[in-house]
Amino acid sequence: MKQLLQDMDVDNKKVIVRCDFNVSIKDGNIIDDFKIVKSLKTINYLIEHNCKIILLSHLGKIKSEEDKLNNSLEVVARRLKELINTNVIFSKQTRNLGLEELVLNLKSKDVLLLENTRFEDFPDNLESGCDAQLSSYWAGLGDIFVMDAFGSCHRKHASTYGIAKYIPSCIGFLVQEELENIDKYVINAEHPFCMLLGGAKIDDKLELINKLLPKCDKVLLTGGLANTCLSVLNFDIGKSLSSNNQQVLDDVKNMLLNNKDKIMLPYDVIVGSSYDDSYIEVKSINEVNLNDEIKDIGPKTIEEYKKVFNTCKSIFVNGTVGVYEDNRYANGTKEIFNSLATSMANVIVGGGDAAGACRKFNYADKFAYVSTGGGATLDYIVNENLVALDIIPNQVKDGIEII
Ligand code: 3PG
Repeated sequence: MKQLLQDMDVDNKKVIVRCDFNVSIKDGNIIDDFKIVKSLKTINYLIEHNCKIILLSHLGKIKSEEDKLNNSLEVVARRLKELINTNVIFSKQTRNLGLEELVLNLKSKDVLLLENTRFEDFPDNLESGCDAQLSSYWAGLGDIFVMDAFGSCHRKHASTYGIAKYIPSCIGFLVQEELENIDKYVINAEHPFCMLLGGAKIDDKLELINKLLPKCDKVLLTGGLANTCLSVLNFDIGKSLSSNNQQVLDDVKNMLLNNKDKIMLPYDVIVGSSYDDSYIEVKSINEVNLNDEIKDIGPKTIEEYKKVFNTCKSIFVNGTVGVYEDNRYANGTKEIFNSLATSMANVIVGGGDAAGACRKFNYADKFAYVSTGGGATLDYIVNENLVALDIIPNQVKDGIEII
């Protein structure tokens, strides 16, 4: 087990906390503040201990000056101010004399949020490249580093990994909670154990799915992942989202051949068309034609997947089954959540989209655990390790290192 926040002497110290405030923002408003709310336990603990609190986070990917205009964390600072009862300061700078002066003048219980750490990525990729100078600069702002950005634990970046090289460090309450729940419900899942995987792209998930397959009894696929499998099996998927990378298609074919009894694919789907908004039909997968776009799973699929859920003791959900943001294609997602909630299994939901959907449809408190991580959750399940945690010392109790 990693060194825990509650075992550190933080009273009156300057504490740097890496949070994951990578939230969806539309028209300048936060769509879902789940990740911000989940970071409050650590922040409030530090306020109670009279710390001066310096928060770091990334938001989106920064590859140009224009990206900076669209990915400021100022909106998160405003939300934090509504959620915590203390002075919240936002620094538009990630690094300069003005910031150093702000840090110098912090009072006990003040919370200072720095601008998006990935602003350091353009033009020199310093944050994502885990630049040593940037890491030690940020470390120099505080006395202790708390890694609490579970969703970013699979990233070896300056703010997630680099800082911990220079000052005493530990994990925060959110990272601790995530690890404990994923260990309990997924890594040590009671069998029968199934995974319901969805989302748009298969290319970056294929390796993970291959590694996950031996760990579970059934894998139910939906979304772009399922479309690619259906197309490899020579079903017409029309204009639906799928991979066209030949290597991926070959690998998918092998995966399907080697796991015939384990992988389940949709029997029917809801199709729409980008040319005609009024066109929406339920089709069996062998009826999809070349102008159709698969947007959701159909009733027969929901029924068959539900039968599997009812045989399981543990279920892990990553990604959503359809384009749930559009009401016309939200039925599959809602019905699947309903089946999961009424099953006897311990259900754990991960992945930004799936967590967002279960909050939108009010299912969050019906499941054993909803994870803030997407890629990090998958990475942890597959490797039982996360790169950003490698640098955090192990817990020591009575002089004994606890691993
Ligand atoms: C997430 O949303 O999964 C995390 O914040 C990680 O974001 P990233 O994939 O941009 O590093």
